[in-house]
Amino acid sequence: MARLFVPGPVDVAPEVAQAQTKPMLPHRSPEFEALFHACEQRARALFFTQYRVFISASSGTGFQEAAVRNLVRPGRRALVGINGAFGKRWREVAETNGILVDSIEVPWGRPLRGKLFTAALEARDDYDLVMVVHNETSTGVENPIAEIAAAVRAVRPDALIAVDSVSGLAGARLEMDAWGLDMVFTSGQKALALPPGIALAAVSDRALARAEEVPQRGWYFDLLRLEKHRLKDSTPATPPVSLIYALDVQLDRILAEGLEARFARHAALAQRVQTWARERGFGLFAAEGYRSKTVTTITNTHGLDIAALNAFLLQRGMRIANGYGPLKGETFRIAHMGEIQMSDLDQLLAALDEYLHTS
Ligand SMILES: Cc1ncc(COP(=O)(O)O)c(C=O)c1O
Repeated sequence: MARLFVPGPVDVAPEVAQAQTKPMLPHRSPEFEALFHACEQRARALFFTQYRVFISASSGTGFQEAAVRNLVRPGRRALVGINGAFGKRWREVAETNGILVDSIEVPWGRPLRGKLFTAALEARDDYDLVMVVHNETSTGVENPIAEIAAAVRAVRPDALIAVDSVSGLAGARLEMDAWGLDMVFTSGQKALALPPGIALAAVSDRALARAEEVPQRGWYFDLLRLEKHRLKDSTPATPPVSLIYALDVQLDRILAEGLEARFARHAALAQRVQTWARERGFGLFAAEGYRSKTVTTITNTHGLDIAALNAFLLQRGMRIANGYGPLKGETFRIAHMGEIQMSDLDQLLAALDEYLHTS
């Protein structure tokens, strides 16, 4: 039974956790290379891409940094969409790396729409990179990535598009190649339901060609260095071997469930939470039509003490998340990603009902 209704780290299936206890392999060995190759090939399905997938010993933020370090040429600019904490974080990552960055901001809870990008790209012609968060974990908004990508392509076909799908990928549909995205990354500890410490990024040929034009890409997240080693089924630095054992098992489990079935399960879980919240007189923080499939942010209409609520849930072995940053106390979040089944959610919602009746 899943217990963690927080947006990462999430519960890990016992066989996935168990896989990590296998004996170590040296990463410069044929056995490791075969494993790495098999993981990289199957991981492409998660991104709906024919391109390569880099597997990194880091959390997802590493690839936020990789995007800005590799895909913006000196003197050129990046444009980031911000409608929550993680878009804001990505801007900071760019700024602290010395990247010239502008933002498109809409109020938290609202989606970023394609036409905003059209206007921004028409106003300047020196954007090398557009950055957008797919699933804003802080607000529970799913941004319309296909619409945004089409808008970007229509005005500036040469601008690259990088998408943070840290809390979306493998729970909500994101089709990298069909939608024309150049870099998409995710973290293991969200909808992939792996232990933390591993991140995956799919990168297009166009993005690698751009990196060739950027002299100072750093070292650890240099996409060209990662590619050179990936072609030999390895990594420049020591990979997270045990997490790759876990990824190997989890990829089989995810592909056995089927991506369509997995997306449908997440969508049904999201619907269930939304209905529950509305029926109890709560509000939903994210705009209708743009609600996340993996995490629901509920407006705390009844002024619940979220810490007390979580203490109550913990006695029953479950946990939800408070609102993020400025939304703490005003909202709370129920994540429904990874291994969570409807029966798990039913148990959580029954416990929440019990709390509402007794508090
Ligand atoms: C949308 C989004 N982007 C980036 C991050 C940062 O990811 P990580 O903690 O794996 O570095 C998070 C973490 O919650 C996130 O939800």
